Amino acid sequence: MTTSPLHDTALLERLRADNPGCATRVHLNNAGSALPPQVVVDVMVEHLRREAEIGGYEAHAEASARMDAVYASLGRLVGVGPHAIALTSSATDSWLRAFLSVPLERGDRILISQAEYASNVIAILKAAHDAGATVEAIPDDADGVVDVDALRSMLDDRVACVSITHAPSQNGLLNPAEEIGAALRGSRAWYVLDACQSVGQLPLDLHAIGADFMSVTGRKFLRGPRGTGFLALSDRALQLEPALLDLHAATWTDDDSYSLADGGARYEQWEKPFAALLGLGAAADYALDLGLDTTWQLITARADQIRAGLASIPGAVVRDRGRVRTGIVVFTVEGRDAADVVREIKAAGINVSLSAAPYALRDFRNQGITSQVRVSPHVFTSDDDVQALLDAVAG
Ligand SMILES: Cc1ncc(COP(=O)(O)O)c(C=O)c1O
Repeated sequence: MTTSPLHDTALLERLRADNPGCATRVHLNNAGSALPPQVVVDVMVEHLRREAEIGGYEAHAEASARMDAVYASLGRLVGVGPHAIALTSSATDSWLRAFLSVPLERGDRILISQAEYASNVIAILKAAHDAGATVEAIPDDADGVVDVDALRSMLDDRVACVSITHAPSQNGLLNPAEEIGAALRGSRAWYVLDACQSVGQLPLDLHAIGADFMSVTGRKFLRGPRGTGFLALSDRALQLEPALLDLHAATWTDDDSYSLADGGARYEQWEKPFAALLGLGAAADYALDLGLDTTWQLITARADQIRAGLASIPGAVVRDRGRVRTGIVVFTVEGRDAADVVREIKAAGINVSLSAAPYALRDFRNQGITSQVRVSPHVFTSDDDVQALLDAVAG
């Protein structure tokens, strides 16, 4: 018999001690914005202090080796070298820098997942409209994830881009990113993977997945600061000319010419929040030190514990789909408005969030609901935290 990773109380105590917010709040909104470990806060505060003491450019120069290490650490999270990372301000910023760089022509097709995040879809709809391309959603299979056989049957040489939300914001399912990558091998389609909610939860490898781009945010399961993100790039993406260029992404070489920067820098912009990005690097190091395998085991075991607890409460309906389930748990309560349920849980001092149709219109319509409660534990979540949630829901 294997013991649950949730029984390692010494580990849990250490993880909670690293994270002072645990002492005062039950934080089950890590898919919204996680509690960062103290080391992330310390690194940021120290850099802000240096900026105030010696000047912003000078503090940047002083931190140059540590900034190089940020790229290396983020690369390790997704199996790429530092040159294949671009630093951004959010998952959306990353995703737009990727998608808007994909060449689109009249008559091209763009395929998306049913669970696609709203910001991605809005940008896709506009780009398709402007280019005269079409947008089609790949059907889900019986488990509620992207049907890879259906995807295969939809592919032809007009498919210019396939955009997949790996771990949707609004469901515990994990889309089969690697099988999708295998299906796309040999096609001309650019594969854009929205890994906003999956990086920081589980070990990932851009090359094994076969994606051209992976867009990531800092503040969610990775536990970095707000206003940070990154884009991981395949070799093919590193050869592409990005849509947005400044004097960091390119060099002005003559009256009518410029040359592109090598590596991920071509997808970046010059000005950056260095304190926050150093904090992002500290969050990546923290996650790598703990180990993404351990993190995944802890988060998924905790999420399953919450699902089982909720399922035993009369009227509560757990709505997660998928063969592999993440640390996102969604549920509704029969006869109750989800917004009211969220309000009451929050009134009990427990952070959860409302997950509503505007974030993933197609997925909500498929499920026949307009809103639900979202609970997202992390490695520092305790049995007491879970019990507090279940008591609040049962109440
Ligand atoms: C799946 C997914 N993609 C993208 C985003 C956007 O992330 P950001 O707010 O960092 O741009 C979110 C945010 O919740 C998300 O859940």
